[in-house]
Amino acid sequence: MDKFVINGGKPLHGEVSISGAKNAAVAIVAATILADEPVVLENVPEISDISICLKILYEMGASIKIIDKNTMRIDTRGISDPVVPYELARSIRASSYFMGTLLGRFKRADVPPPGGCDLGDRPIDQHLKAFSALGAKHSIDGGIVSLRADELIGNTFFFDKCTVGGTINAICASVKAKGLTVIENAAKEPHIVDLANFLNSMGANIMGAGTDVIKVRGVDFLKGITYTVIPDQIEAGTYMVAAAATKGNVWIKNVIPKHLESITAKLRAVGATVEEFDESVHVYVDGPLLKTTVKTLPHPGFPTDMQPQFSTLLTSAEGTSIVTDDIFDNRFRYVSELRRMGAEITVEGTTAVIQGVEKLTGATVRATDLRAGTALVIAGLMASGTTVVENIFHIERGYENIDAKLNSIGADIKRMSDYDITRKIG
Ligand code: EPZ
Repeated sequence: MDKFVINGGKPLHGEVSISGAKNAAVAIVAATILADEPVVLENVPEISDISICLKILYEMGASIKIIDKNTMRIDTRGISDPVVPYELARSIRASSYFMGTLLGRFKRADVPPPGGCDLGDRPIDQHLKAFSALGAKHSIDGGIVSLRADELIGNTFFFDKCTVGGTINAICASVKAKGLTVIENAAKEPHIVDLANFLNSMGANIMGAGTDVIKVRGVDFLKGITYTVIPDQIEAGTYMVAAAATKGNVWIKNVIPKHLESITAKLRAVGATVEEFDESVHVYVDGPLLKTTVKTLPHPGFPTDMQPQFSTLLTSAEGTSIVTDDIFDNRFRYVSELRRMGAEITVEGTTAVIQGVEKLTGATVRATDLRAGTALVIAGLMASGTTVVENIFHIERGYENIDAKLNSIGADIKRMSDYDITRKIG
């Protein structure tokens, strides 16, 4: 398995360009099932979660033409059997979106329960609540979620928990339902707005995406279009934090600064300068990093997907910082790895208390999930000496060319296989 070997302690400097948003692209790729004509998607990140979504479509009968590494033409008209291949579905969370999209098109779907990052229990009860409100019945047998409806009919329902995946599934299942669907307590993340923009460009009638009430009036036909995925909020935030954590000076290009406001505010609170431009942000640090408190919240609050990276920065901030993240049960699993590098962190339930230390030191650490993995890369960039980050397949699920991008802004990071490392060590 590949690893990253990082020689740390170098401030990042220069310009880096952000790729298309993973969490928008996985929803949009799945939603091509609802299109009645071929669609062309641009700015799709070249990451393994997307490859798996494309494989699922292909194995179900879609035809996919890769135009270049970030652009593809997808024609899902060849899909006739709405059954998602088991092993592929188990490897990503976004496979749950095939429930909403297949149900929306075929009025039936057989989908294995989704996989993805192990962040603790990740129930789908709210997704099922939405499908049931639209008239679908579900059963779970042999590990497969089966959804069946004679007709999908618009309805009003309230999510008991604000859920990104549930909101995406509710939109996809209702976009061709009869009449009006009203989704209350909807999630407001940028990728939900991007999915709605994609569907509306094809002729859907979705109002209110980005607020907590979304109204979907069903339509019969969705036409083929060319659509460009938004830039990745979390990838951008990760480079912003890496710039600050290494006391560097980096221009982060191809971003939507509005999507980054909560991250920008916290970086300013710890003493970083963040300048905002139309499509870029400039982050630099020329003084000490200061303690702060962070509480993760659904958008527009501070994203849970940025918590591990930001907590890593706080390991070298002056004083004691407090980070609370209760969106998922298990988002502090990287902490024991950071401790190997000299970080002083204690975790009680969903709160981490971080006592800033002068410096981290390189060690061999293991990524436990996607964002935890990038947090360890940031720790390796901050640390003196050499850090080896194992299990980088987690990182490759969501970051396009992270090693090349970091090297282009002054990092020293090499990808190595076990074989290379054994040879090097002797
Ligand atoms: C999405 O996961 C993202 N994944 C996650 O990003 C992100 O961490 C999360 O939203 C929160 O922002 C994708 O977009 C593919 P949720 P999702 O449904 O949809 C509870 C990353 O690193 N809940 O908003 O699975 C749930 O347990 C990944 O890119 C229910 O109780 O998250 C959690 O406590 C990791 N019942 C909360 O809601 C349900 O039916 C939010 O989950 C659904 C969710």
